[in-house]
Amino acid sequence: MKVLLLGSGGREHALAWKMSQSKLLEKLYIAPGNAGTQDAGENIDLSPNDFEGAGKFCLENNISLVVVGPEEPLVKGFHDHFAEDPSLSHIPVIGPRKKGAMLEGSKNFANRFMERHGIPTAASFAVTRENISEGIRFLRSQSPPYVLKADGLAAGKGVLILDDAGVAEKELQSMLEGKFGKAGETVVIEEFLKGVELSVFVLTDGESYLLLPEAKDYKRIGEGDTGLNTGGMGSVSPVPFAGMQFMEKVEKQIIQPTIIGLREESIPYSGFIFFGLMNVAGNPYVVEYNVRMGDPEAEAVIPRIKTDLLELFVAVGNSRLKEKTISIEERYLASVMLVSEGYPGKYRKGLPVSKPEDTGESIIFHAGTKYDNGKIVTNGGRVMAVSSFGNTLKEALEECYKTAGKIDFEGKYFRRDIGRDLMD
Ligand code: AMP
Ligand code: GLY
Repeated sequence: MKVLLLGSGGREHALAWKMSQSKLLEKLYIAPGNAGTQDAGENIDLSPNDFEGAGKFCLENNISLVVVGPEEPLVKGFHDHFAEDPSLSHIPVIGPRKKGAMLEGSKNFANRFMERHGIPTAASFAVTRENISEGIRFLRSQSPPYVLKADGLAAGKGVLILDDAGVAEKELQSMLEGKFGKAGETVVIEEFLKGVELSVFVLTDGESYLLLPEAKDYKRIGEGDTGLNTGGMGSVSPVPFAGMQFMEKVEKQIIQPTIIGLREESIPYSGFIFFGLMNVAGNPYVVEYNVRMGDPEAEAVIPRIKTDLLELFVAVGNSRLKEKTISIEERYLASVMLVSEGYPGKYRKGLPVSKPEDTGESIIFHAGTKYDNGKIVTNGGRVMAVSSFGNTLKEALEECYKTAGKIDFEGKYFRRDIGRDLMD
């Protein structure tokens, strides 16, 4: 079968790498992809937000499945565009329709959904310009730190965590006045959850689900989790503190009520659900839903899936996922992100990248790279992820760092403490 994958990051390279190993795959196209995805298929010059262009490409090239990597096209209704066009509706899309994508596209929607279905999450209150005084009252009823979230998609930048009530009130005002644009027209004030975060993923057809390996990601630019937030500096899987007892709670209290809740509310769903969780003294709480795989979590999760992922996608498309099982590699997988100097602030692009021919036990997933005159050059802040297996987390990380040391581009930076907090 011929498949179209939308996106261009490390997550998409991991998905492309995995699908390219499927016995079902005849040809994979990636729109727009990066220098790495070229090894798994053919990149095409098409934006993931060009729905018309994607539809035309699918018909002209006899595509029989579309996999959507990032959230934006889903929140904007990519799947609905296909489902509602009689010439495209036969093509399954992996990724929910607009309504299901609101789990990520609106934090207020997600919180109200969890409230309706008794799913543990932070207490919250949604504020608009119409109910500011009630919002301030709620804020004052919370103890610090104060969590303010732009309701809509804000490219990972819409969350503020503030220690001072006065500052929080001012920030609330400026968010409502457009600090994050339209995404902040509604601001969600949340209770602060104190604990350790982890990311849990399922693949679902809306009826049944398969649990994928969990992961922990490292969001800050600096070692010891310091400095600015980034798109993610590395990830590891499995997460040692997510033992059987904890994961049972996650399934019973969070995953199952979510799938049942979607069904009860007649929200069809096909694709990944990413549960951003906080482990609060042994109990899981939802910090956020995402409607896609995580990045960089995908680079530590996807290679641990031994089952043919494309076969699972086809089962999602046919609403027959309940007939499938998933087999997971037991070994640890660690992934370290190599980033451009200056990231997550300003950085240069177009710098030549050299990598070893023999990458040993490591898999290199490209993120911000492209070909320029036949040579790989940097094309983003997060340049590539090095993922390695190991019998222990330590072994996996040692392998990552060995390979990371052999990759070169001017200004290369990576955190040397990925996974260290889990090894004490
Ligand atoms: P989000 O965009 O919702 O993932 O938020 C970004 C980050 O802010 C999360 O990964 C958490 O580290 C933190 N965060 C968000 N909501 C809360 C909360 N209610 N309590 C504590 N930390 C939070
Ligand atoms: N790693 C967090 C995310 O993909 O949103």
